Amino acid sequence: MDADVVIGEMTSGERDSVIALWTRCGLTRPWNDPEADITLATATDTAAVLVARAGGRVVGAAMTGHDGHRGALYYLGVDPDTRRGGIGRSLVRAAEVWCRSRGAPKVNLLVRNENQAVLAFYAALGYLPTNSVSLYRTLDPECAERERVEKATWAAARG
Ligand SMILES: CC(C)(COP(=O)(O)OP(=O)(O)OC[C@H]1O[C@@H](n2cnc3c(N)ncnc32)[C@H](O)[C@@H]1OP(=O)(O)O)[C@@H](O)C(=O)NCCC(=O)NCCS
Repeated sequence: MDADVVIGEMTSGERDSVIALWTRCGLTRPWNDPEADITLATATDTAAVLVARAGGRVVGAAMTGHDGHRGALYYLGVDPDTRRGGIGRSLVRAAEVWCRSRGAPKVNLLVRNENQAVLAFYAALGYLPTNSVSLYRTLDPECAERERVEKATWAAARG
């Protein structure tokens, strides 16, 4: 990674740039609100948004956190113009340090089925597939209904 790239916790002034970056990286979905996710992550000391800055500009970002058992990594994205320069690796390593320093011995992350290409990146960083199936339930009924509709619309638009 270039020496002029610095990684640190997101400042409130970088919020919009982070959301724009995640959108540009294809990480957002209509049923996942990055604004709300950042608000929740920054309201607790068990989560953080890490950014990579070059020349004062946000060129990468990731969300990390821990649940008292495992660390987690979400929303990892690097500006398409600055990829393959080690920024993604450095963000993952910074998130690992963040989790480990809080006692989490392992880090979990999710890769969408349609994003298999990124598996080579994670393999290069030592990440292994789990033998587990990942399940989820949306706890807010209004969110669940909105998500159902938005996922159907998203799927229909992609044939
Ligand atoms: C995945 C992503 C964060 C990688 O960022 P990056 O800064 O380009 O990654 P790095 O330069 O640190 O790559 C580290 C190593 O990973 C591997 N790697 C990175 N991108 C790869 C690719 N597209 N294909 C194969 N291997 C890859 C290489 O071994 C690389 O080392 P090398 O460049 O010395 O060969 C970036 O491609 C991205 O933002 N993708 C879109 C968003 C996304 O899919 N995020 C993950 C969601 S789960």
